[in-house]
Amino acid sequence: MVFCLLIMIMQSNSWVPLFPDQASTFAWQVDYLYFYLILVSVAFTIPIVVAIFFFFVKYREKDKFATPDEIHGSIMLETVWSIIPFVISMTIFLGGAYIFYNQTRVPTDAMEIYVVGKQWMWKFQHGTGQREINELHVPVGRKVKLMMTTEDVLHDVYIPAFRTKADVVPGRYTTLWFEATKPGKYHLYCAEYCGLNHSGMGGWVYVMEQSEFDNWLAGGGSNQTPVEAGRELFTNKLGCASCHAGGASQRGAKLEGLFGTDVKLTNGQTVKADEEYIRNSILNPSGQVVEGYQPIMPTFKGQVTEEQLVSLVAYVKSLNPNAATTGSTPTTTTAPAMTNSNSTSSSSNTKLASNPNAPSNKTEPTKSSNK
Ligand code: CUA
Repeated sequence: MVFCLLIMIMQSNSWVPLFPDQASTFAWQVDYLYFYLILVSVAFTIPIVVAIFFFFVKYREKDKFATPDEIHGSIMLETVWSIIPFVISMTIFLGGAYIFYNQTRVPTDAMEIYVVGKQWMWKFQHGTGQREINELHVPVGRKVKLMMTTEDVLHDVYIPAFRTKADVVPGRYTTLWFEATKPGKYHLYCAEYCGLNHSGMGGWVYVMEQSEFDNWLAGGGSNQTPVEAGRELFTNKLGCASCHAGGASQRGAKLEGLFGTDVKLTNGQTVKADEEYIRNSILNPSGQVVEGYQPIMPTFKGQVTEEQLVSLVAYVKSLNPNAATTGSTPTTTTAPAMTNSNSTSSSSNTKLASNPNAPSNKTEPTKSSNK
C-alpha cells in the first residue's frame, strides 16, 4: 500500500511541491533509490515502534521480585536477522554504485560546455563561442558535459531537476554530465557555501528542442570560439608560439597531436596529457618537464584568467584532431555556427574567453576581453 502510494508520488511528482521535475536520464534512477530508502526506513521503523509498545505492556512489572526466564539464543533467528539486513543493504549499495558510476563516467560523445564559477555568478561558454551568465541553454536528448572550474573559491553546480551536482574547485577541472529529457526551464543553484551572496548564485537551465537550440546558438553573433581565443592568446598575447610553434628551432615541447597521449617527464613519470595536465603546464611548468626539454618555460600564473586558461586548453586540445572528441562537433545535426569556426582544428571547438564585467544575466555580448 505504502509502496504503491510512493510510486504514485514518484511518477506524478508535479503535485508534490517539494519535488523538482524529473528532467534528465538520471532523475528516475535517483528517485527510485530515494524512495526505496524511504520504504526501507518505514518498513523498519513501524515494526520497531509497534514492538516497543507491545513489549512495554507485555513485560511491564507485575511482580516486585520476579526472576526472568533465561534465554539461550536461537540460531535460526540470528541467521534471519543477519541475512535480511545484509541483502537490503547490498541492494542499497548496488543501486547507489550503479547511479554513481553512471553519473561520473562522462560519455565521450558529449557536447562540451565550459563553466567558470565566481563569486557570485555562473559563466558558461559553448563550443561555438556563445556565452551566458547564470543561464544555460542545452538541447533536449543530447549528452552534455560541463567542464568546470572557478576563479575564486569552491562552488557547486546543482540542477535538482537533473538530479545531479558537482563541486567546482579552484585550481582544477571537474566535470559533470547529463542528458535532459524534457524541454523546460529548470533551476540552477550553487550548492556550496561560497560567501555573502551564495544564496543568490544561481539561475536557470533552459532545455530546448534541437532545432530551437540551433536557432538560439546561431543568434549569438560572431563570437570567438574557445579555440580561436586560445590561438590568439597562444600566438599573440602570451607569445607561447615563439617556443611551441614547431619547426626546427622549437625549444618547447611539441603540442601538435599531444592531447590525450601519454607524456614522459624528465623525472621518469608518465602522465596523460589531459585538460588538467595542460593547465598545470601553463601555471607550473617546472612541475612536469617533458623528457628531452630544458626547464626554461616561465610560469604564467597570475597572467591568465581561468577563462583564458580554458581557451588555451581548448586550443591545445584542438591541435590533436584524433583526441577524445569531447569537445567536438556532435554527430547529430547542429547549427551551422558549430562547424564554420576554425581552420586548423577540425575536431574541437570549445572556448571561453573572459569578460568578468559582463552584465549579470542574458547572453553575454560578443566581446572577449582578454585581460
Ligand atoms: Cu557559489 Cu555558493
